[in-house]
Amino acid sequence: MFRLLVTGAAGFIGSHTCVCLLGRGYEIIALDSYVNSSARIYKRVIEIFERKGINIQSKLKIIKGDLRDKECIQNIFKNALLEKKPIKGVMHFAGLKAVGESVENPLKYWEYNWLSAFNLISAMVEFECRNIVFSSSATIYGLSKKSTLDEKSVINPINPYGNTKAAIEILLSDVFKRKENKLNVANLRYFNPIGAHSSGLIGEDPKGIPNNIFPIITQVAVKKIDHLNIYGNDWPTKDGTGIRDYIHVMDLAEGHLKMLEFLIKNDSKFINLNLGTGIGTSVMELVEIFKTVNDVNIPYRFVDRRPGDIDEIIADNSLAKELINWIPKRNIYDMCRDGYNWQINNPGGLG
Ligand SMILES: NC(=O)c1ccc[n+]([C@@H]2O[C@H](COP(=O)([O-])OP(=O)(O)OC[C@H]3O[C@@H](n4cnc5c(N)ncnc54)[C@H](O)[C@@H]3O)[C@@H](O)[C@H]2O)c1
Repeated sequence: MFRLLVTGAAGFIGSHTCVCLLGRGYEIIALDSYVNSSARIYKRVIEIFERKGINIQSKLKIIKGDLRDKECIQNIFKNALLEKKPIKGVMHFAGLKAVGESVENPLKYWEYNWLSAFNLISAMVEFECRNIVFSSSATIYGLSKKSTLDEKSVINPINPYGNTKAAIEILLSDVFKRKENKLNVANLRYFNPIGAHSSGLIGEDPKGIPNNIFPIITQVAVKKIDHLNIYGNDWPTKDGTGIRDYIHVMDLAEGHLKMLEFLIKNDSKFINLNLGTGIGTSVMELVEIFKTVNDVNIPYRFVDRRPGDIDEIIADNSLAKELINWIPKRNIYDMCRDGYNWQINNPGGLG
């Protein structure tokens, strides 16, 4: 098995994907600056394998570094060559993801997201690393007239965060079109990743106040936050609250593994792929299922809609099924159970 670089490896989706990749036997260079995570997560990743009597430490090389620093990323590729273990593929998770913050501070988002990707892709071209799986987002579809979106839907991001993701897809497309040393590219457009690894050892552990609904719910459940704000109860949906396509983070992680292996087997590919379940769940349904599955109370309040929000967004995931035989295995009940299990075992996160 060959070597992979995982950027943003200490983050929520990166750490769960590391578990999948290590489980499959890949050797990983895990890069993170810890701007929104903690290096303590790696001990937990190692523990998941130790509990099964497997020692994966020699397969996990941990590097603290920032992709905004061009030299840092160049050195990683250079050293891998010197060690005669070149990096065969990259999973690029590193980036910032708070939509509201991106509106307040767009330059920060272009720097953390776009410049980081630019430095990474430049280093990949320089050191002839050809496979990249990029964490894009359903956010790039913006305000669509349809509620179920396939990959051909119009790209129309409505905030700086979405703009950086769409711009990175364009950059990757331009580099892909070069005549020589083409990159193999997969832009994975995630819908709403939630849940946690079933061990309760790793899960979503954002620094500060969470931006997404699910870590807010889990933190309300352990009384770290006193209530959940629900933005609007007058949407044109079955119960008036917004409908989203929630996907278990381990299904998402498995999608990455399948995508990478597809890229490595099939040369010269540029793929845009939705990763969602194709099932919509309203905010009220999510809250009620979470309460029932975990037998906890989730106090909530209805507040005004947020500008730029939409009523419903669901993935058409037929391409993922067809192309990489990816079928999500975990349902919304599993997501609520596993997410709470992580939070109750780690009420303060990893500290
Ligand atoms: N979680 C979601 O709802 C969601 C949805 C769609 C897309 N995404 C994208 O998926 C990726 C991973 O998301 P996540 O939920 O795991 O977020 P996360 O914040 O938990 O993980 C991102 C990681 O990247 C690191 N990082 C950020 N900038 C860096 C830099 N310049 N150099 C090195 N490390 C850096 C952070 O410290 C963090 O560990 C992100 O790119 C995000 O935009 C997430």
